[in-house]
Amino acid sequence: MNITVIGTGYVGLVSGVCYAELGNHVICVDKDADKIDMLNAGGIPIYEPGLKELATASREAGRLSFTTDLPEAIRRSDIIILAVGTPPLPSGEANLAYINQAAIEIAEAMNGYKIIAVKSTVPVGTNERLAILIKSHTKERFDSISLPEFLREGSAIEDTLHPDRIIIGANCQSAADTMMLLHEPLTKHIVVTDIRSAEMIKYASNAFLATKISFINEIANICEKVGADVTQVAEGMGYDRRIGPSFLKAGIGYGGSCFPKDTSALIQIAGHVDYEFKLLRSVVEVNQDQRWSVIRKLETIFSGELRGKTIAVWGLAFKPNTDDVRDSPAVEIIRHLVENGVKVKAYDPIAMSNFRTIYNIENVEWCDQALETAKGADALCLLTEWDEFTTVDLGQLQAIMKQPILIDGRNVFKEENLLGTDFIYYSVGRPSLNQGVKQQMPVLLF
Ligand code: UDX
Repeated sequence: MNITVIGTGYVGLVSGVCYAELGNHVICVDKDADKIDMLNAGGIPIYEPGLKELATASREAGRLSFTTDLPEAIRRSDIIILAVGTPPLPSGEANLAYINQAAIEIAEAMNGYKIIAVKSTVPVGTNERLAILIKSHTKERFDSISLPEFLREGSAIEDTLHPDRIIIGANCQSAADTMMLLHEPLTKHIVVTDIRSAEMIKYASNAFLATKISFINEIANICEKVGADVTQVAEGMGYDRRIGPSFLKAGIGYGGSCFPKDTSALIQIAGHVDYEFKLLRSVVEVNQDQRWSVIRKLETIFSGELRGKTIAVWGLAFKPNTDDVRDSPAVEIIRHLVENGVKVKAYDPIAMSNFRTIYNIENVEWCDQALETAKGADALCLLTEWDEFTTVDLGQLQAIMKQPILIDGRNVFKEENLLGTDFIYYSVGRPSLNQGVKQQMPVLLF
């Protein structure tokens, strides 16, 4: 099939490359000429494992091209996939300015029947509104499809080529059939719904996953007080097939470009129809508070006196295997430390330059290497579970730190890693591993 994908962010670029991998002819369009030049020169503007190899293979086979010329791409394609950003407005609502603009440009370039599919995450009703907008700018026929995307950064290729399911929201059977044909090589689980339901599936899925994370984080906080171990609790819960094991990893909360944005947007969507989504509000609040648990632990250890201490931070990305730092817990944690007179040393294997450019936090010592970051530190906070950190030799680490204090925000270390070390160690919801901390669990009298 001949496909144009508009927007070369994580979703657009990965989707375009994967549709080309399936043998389709794909044109990826972006307004950013520098980005397109880079892609045409064989570069990839984001860090995503496996993407460069697939893009190169399809480009060399003549199935994948990149351009800023949207009208020409539209004229040469039967299916147009919109994957432009819908970043949050200060109110939490999705900013639809880019997608509206793209819809008008598509309409004005149309030279015959097209299927116009929206992969960008958009509020319920947006596809119908876009259809009206397109209709007002063209006389050509088209069908609208809602095609929500569920890929995760860091495993985006695997998620796209082997998705759990494909959702096709359509109000026209023949357009739905074409989209089914396009996605049939990927999975047996193709669900065709009406357009509004497809739009809601995306928000509901992300909100549910965010809820699981905030839920296990609250269980972890209670575990810390009652002397239970949240990793054992999560394992025990996860074997129940009704619950499932995934997204039950306690830590310092979720970040990234989707969960924070989509949860806020869904709260707003509900608000617009006079429904207060109380549960989701709490999920967001719990998540916001969870990142402060790192600061609270440091304050407990240093009896509230952080000023003048040297604190090392490992990990700036919102999760491993990505250079994305949007809404990463590291932002607020580092800002707070710096503002309170702490000397912060920070390191991330991939996301450092993005973090520095986007947040521009002064008075941080940016380091090139994990151990160098921890050298001379009074405490080390692990905020992203990169392999490089999880495989470190804790004996070696202890030897170079000023004080062996480790706050493990992602529960990556196990009891056996800590044996033989003198680390004062705090993780999330595992009080029995808090070695070096004189913590007497209370006898529980209920
Ligand atoms: C998410 C959704 O998974 C994906 O379907 C959607 O299309 C986009 O949003 P992504 O943001 O790339 O993907 O990352 P994901 O792997 O889902 O992790 C999101 C956040 O949750 C990360 O900050 C991660 O650290 C956190 N997380 C995840 C937990 O804290 N605990 C978990 O058990 C799982």
